[in-house]
Amino acid sequence: MSDMFKGQVAIVTGAGGGLGREHALALAARGAKVVINDLGGSRDGSGASQSAAEAVVDEIRAAGGEAMASAASVTDFAAVSQMVADTMAQWGRIDILVNNAGILRDKSFAKMELDDFRLVMDVHLMGAVNCTKAVWDIMRAQNYGRIVMTTSSSGLFGNFGQSNYGAAKMALVGLMQTLSIEGAKNDIRVNCLAPTAHTRMTEDLGLPLEALAPALVTPGLLHLVSPDAPTRCILAAGAGGFERAYITLTQGDFITGPEAAEQVAARFDKISDRTGEIVPEMGAAQGMIELTKAQSAQG
Ligand code: NAI
Repeated sequence: MSDMFKGQVAIVTGAGGGLGREHALALAARGAKVVINDLGGSRDGSGASQSAAEAVVDEIRAAGGEAMASAASVTDFAAVSQMVADTMAQWGRIDILVNNAGILRDKSFAKMELDDFRLVMDVHLMGAVNCTKAVWDIMRAQNYGRIVMTTSSSGLFGNFGQSNYGAAKMALVGLMQTLSIEGAKNDIRVNCLAPTAHTRMTEDLGLPLEALAPALVTPGLLHLVSPDAPTRCILAAGAGGFERAYITLTQGDFITGPEAAEQVAARFDKISDRTGEIVPEMGAAQGMIELTKAQSAQG
């Protein structure tokens, strides 16, 4: 096994079980010192316990690695800041942040209480924001950082009963898009991982246990946090399959004038045609493309 992460320090949130545990074990096995963060609550976010994180720390130490436990809730910025301060006091740097902690509160939108919507947004979106904010200046000062947001196919493509979870997971893609731009000059690379794995989060779905072992996702995570990592990538991973997802823009059409509304409807197939679609490098590109169409129509 390589020592790809020797001398590096990683924080993995929600690392007391499931995917986070596999990520943490794999980073530690390749030389990283790892903070095992986990609130230790139940799948819906209720309760808390130190023991989930401590068990993984014990596992890493028993294998000869270095790790420390944190039971900070990612929703609590003061607790997250303390975790980051403790990490700096202990190991002096933070190279990698894996935002992985998560909960579920599934219900159809018609039946969903707003509190369940808010809590899921708070853990997934604000949890990742809190942890990223707490390490951002450290990574900027180091001129090095690797951050992963754990998104989901439910956010990218939708899933019945997961409006709260899907909204939070897609929000993480938006966060990644901007942070990868803002982090570039300090070599902070930010990516999203969209996993599929059999964990306690998906145990009700009857997924095949071994074929969807969380360890099969981790090689993708390791690439996203490695020195050679890409940036601004959405990597899908599960059961040994690896794919990339993109947010794209079609070539579209140019339509103005008094009949524009009717013409948008009439030419919707052309607007939707995916031939020659592009991945804009930043949001401003959309406006530039539209202005160029207007200018070429005039000239
Ligand atoms: P899991 O339930 O085993 O792991 C999530 C961990 O996050 C738990 O150990 C939990 O205690 C911890 N956690 C929850 N709230 C926390 C908080 N406020 N602060 C700190 N830790 C907290 O589930 P799994 O499947 O390993 O999920 C890991 C990530 O992958 C999640 O973000 C999940 O949404 C995402 N994901 C998982 C998929 C799958 O197929 N298993 C599919 C798509 C995304």
